[in-house]
Amino acid sequence: MTDERSSEVARGNGGEPETYPNPVVGVFDDVSPTPGSSKPDPILVTDLVRKTFGGIVAVDVEYLEIQRGAITALIGPNGAGKTTFFNLLTGFDKPNTAGVRLDGEEISEVASYRLAQRGMVRTFQLTKVLSRMTVIENMKLGATGQTGEGFWKALLPVWKNQEQEVEDRADALLKRFNLTHMRDEFAGTLSGGQRKLVEMARALMTEPSLVMLDEPMAGVNPALTQSLLGHVKGLRAEGRTVIFVEHDMDVVRDISDWVVVMAEGMIIAEGTPDDIAANPLVIDAYLGSHHDTDISDLDTVEIEQKVEEEFKEADEGLPGAHRSDIEAEGEIET
Ligand SMILES: Nc1ncnc2c1ncn2[C@@H]1O[C@H](COP(=O)(O)OP(=O)(O)OP(=O)(O)O)[C@@H](O)[C@H]1O
Ligand SMILES: [Mg+2]
Repeated sequence: MTDERSSEVARGNGGEPETYPNPVVGVFDDVSPTPGSSKPDPILVTDLVRKTFGGIVAVDVEYLEIQRGAITALIGPNGAGKTTFFNLLTGFDKPNTAGVRLDGEEISEVASYRLAQRGMVRTFQLTKVLSRMTVIENMKLGATGQTGEGFWKALLPVWKNQEQEVEDRADALLKRFNLTHMRDEFAGTLSGGQRKLVEMARALMTEPSLVMLDEPMAGVNPALTQSLLGHVKGLRAEGRTVIFVEHDMDVVRDISDWVVVMAEGMIIAEGTPDDIAANPLVIDAYLGSHHDTDISDLDTVEIEQKVEEEFKEADEGLPGAHRSDIEAEGEIET
């Protein structure tokens, strides 16, 4: 919220509380709480982003500006199009139409790993941490940007040339995320929450200016949630921009400077957390959705199962997801 000068968070399991300054206090004071409103210094601007799946219009966002250095929450009922919107912005899905500008440059045709190299990274609703690789190996994968198309091709040269530097950076991030003790464990042995932490840490390997988190808190136990919230505030304190998808309104109120609400593919509201909580359009959208809208209602076992399914998909679907392939010399086919 904009009237907060700083925020106190517990650090992990019983660690010292840490205060993160909020560099964007007051920035939204003159911003109109209406869809498509102008921001003082937008890092990301989207114009007519549309995606249909067969007859379904999954995303139909007219215009959106994301303020630099702020934490923006993207909320909306299940199926509203939040993940699809993330996919379109980050090069993981092809839009029907899209104008997307990052720092004033058109990026709508740019591949995800190139976007990562240009400072824009994202994490996934279901983690893409690879279970048959160790935590440190997963971290090193972040050095070239994102898992996904084109990623494996870009991997080897970076490893050959800068391996020590990459490893040092990975170790520093593992320390920051209290994961050093898991460094050499296979990622498949981690809890769902720890995998979320690894994925967030890995996203930071490229020193991104814009970090997009799709439900970073989902399926994470309360102690780890506090730690994750602290890390998100820490990103803002470092001057990074964060966009995150979240269902839990307490979390949204706690950490976001600005909230964008999607329903049926469109942006139906924007504003501060207080504006949004009082907006009847938002309340209608949630009540009319016939879905669970608060992640706390979800069974963590069910989420764990979904993550496991995703591991299988990631391991089977991405060539080179095995240690022997990563270590092999020569080109990796994608
Ligand atoms: N690959 C796909 N093929 C067909 N339909 C899809 C596909 N991906 C998403 N959709 C549809 O697009 C709509 C938006 O889905 P999306 O996953 O983006 O919603 P969401 O807001 O992220 O929901 P949730 O809160 O449940 O994660 C839904 O109707 C969904 O069924
Ligand atoms: Mg989603």
